[in-house]
Amino acid sequence: VEESYIMIKPDGVQRGLVGEIISRFEKKGIKLKGLKLYQCPTELAQDNEHYKDLQSKSFFPNLIDYITSGPVVCMAWEGVGVVASARKLIGATNPLNAEPGTIRGDLAVQTGRNVVHGSDSPENGNREIALWFKEGEVVEWTPVQEPWLKE
Ligand code: GTP
Ligand code: MG
Repeated sequence: VEESYIMIKPDGVQRGLVGEIISRFEKKGIKLKGLKLYQCPTELAQDNEHYKDLQSKSFFPNLIDYITSGPVVCMAWEGVGVVASARKLIGATNPLNAEPGTIRGDLAVQTGRNVVHGSDSPENGNREIALWFKEGEVVEWTPVQEPWLKE
């Protein structure tokens, strides 16, 4: 199944945007199957496979400080095409380039404080969910609205 790891970053939590952000995915009609508030330890963030592609970047230390500066909300969402669809809802990496109507376009102003993460491929969706969630934290269920979302 296609799934996306969506994470509300510490700025989103501190700014009281948790409900607003979850609501946008929920209303779209994709399925929530994992949800927790989590304080990521610095050592874990540094070694974490999650940002391994960015380890050589000059902003990497800032990114680690940012992501460990407070609790994050970890989420697993499932649906056909959910990875691309979630990235559309999230908007461009730099909030100044993100379209109005997207989360970053509406709620953020800087790349270093862009409130939310979304997986960039179905492979990374599966991989990141396995990385951030423990066994038993991801729940398989069938929403009653399903026949009203899919013909
Ligand atoms: P994510 O959904 O968070 O992965 O963002 P993305 O896929 O739109 O961007 P990317 O994976 O390239 O970068 C991951 C995160 O690193 C971004 O969301 C930013 O929080 C941070 N980042 C990327 N580029 C910069 C930068 O130039 N400066 C700073 N301060 N942070 C950056
Ligand atoms: Mg990314």
